[in-house]
Amino acid sequence: MRMEHLRYLACPACTRGLRVSKVSKQRGDRIETGALHCSACSRTYEIVRHVPRFVPMKNYASTFGLQWSKHARTQYDTYTGSSVSARRFFEETKWPRRMEGQVVLEAGSGSGRFTEIAASTGATIASMDYSHAVDANYASNGEKDNVLIVQGDVYRMPFRPNSFDRIFCFGVLQHTPRVEEAFRSLTKYLVRGGSLAIDVYRRPTGKERLLNTKYMVRPVTKRLPSEMLYSFCNAYVNLMWPLTSLIHRLPRGSAINWKLLIPDYRGKYPLPEGILKEWATLDMFDMLSPAHDNPQTLDAVKRWFRDAGMPKADVHLGYNGIMGRGTMGVAE
Ligand SMILES: C[S@@+](CC[C@H](N)C(=O)[O-])C[C@H]1O[C@@H](n2cnc3c(N)ncnc32)[C@H](O)[C@@H]1O
Repeated sequence: MRMEHLRYLACPACTRGLRVSKVSKQRGDRIETGALHCSACSRTYEIVRHVPRFVPMKNYASTFGLQWSKHARTQYDTYTGSSVSARRFFEETKWPRRMEGQVVLEAGSGSGRFTEIAASTGATIASMDYSHAVDANYASNGEKDNVLIVQGDVYRMPFRPNSFDRIFCFGVLQHTPRVEEAFRSLTKYLVRGGSLAIDVYRRPTGKERLLNTKYMVRPVTKRLPSEMLYSFCNAYVNLMWPLTSLIHRLPRGSAINWKLLIPDYRGKYPLPEGILKEWATLDMFDMLSPAHDNPQTLDAVKRWFRDAGMPKADVHLGYNGIMGRGTMGVAE
């Protein structure tokens, strides 16, 4: 972390400011190894491989750490040569392309494909994830002057309350144990007039619930050792890929492939075949491994925004199922 970014951090336990209490390895104004200390409540937080760690290294999100270390670049636009992640970022947030002078929080960064896009706006980006995916993110984005990467928990974030101009949280909420509480926590860190953009899985209804293969197998797969499950997903996608290419051409072929647990993005994203296959392996593991997968209803998400003081929020079906955007404390 850069010394200069200390001013954005706060003790997650008591929300007071932190100071650098130990520096074991430093380069310029960047601390690679050291510690932060809260004088108010006497807690100390290690800085390991440039990243301040506010949670145990291993936790319920460790499957994501594995996933994002194996697929550190798979979904980056600068890797795929596409604008898939940029388009999603700007369509979901409706934020401007330039945001110099603003401070943006990314909650649940994964390997950082959206960190890359957010950083390109010139804003200062505080990017947080609960898992060791932060190491993959640091490798891609950590050396940018406007990026601060931390390992922290959405329920107790290591930042000052009411301090961010904008917060985004994509693909994360359904993977937390208490989804509404995670949403509420985000809203506490926005300034008045600040903008929040989230998405969350939509709960399957009616016929969708029948033969929902993912939710049928998850009770078993989420308990398997992660490395074993990843090897299985990799082998399964390799084996099935030629067949799924044929199935894709049938009416509703893509839907059939998803039922077969092969995430099929052919025709949806303009990506080369090899990258589509990488995404399939990544997303198959992403469907089957997380400890928590709590999809939500549209009405519930609308209510969250209302209850948080954003009654005019724009909440509708979209990326990842349901997407929502609101402005804190201002009639829209
Ligand atoms: C499906 S990934 C999405 C990553 C990224 N936003 C993207 O769309 O590429 C979900 C991420 O949420 C993170 N996560 C889960 N629970 C969290 C929590 N309590 N606090 C912060 N991040 C959390 C996981 O570690 C994981 O990297």
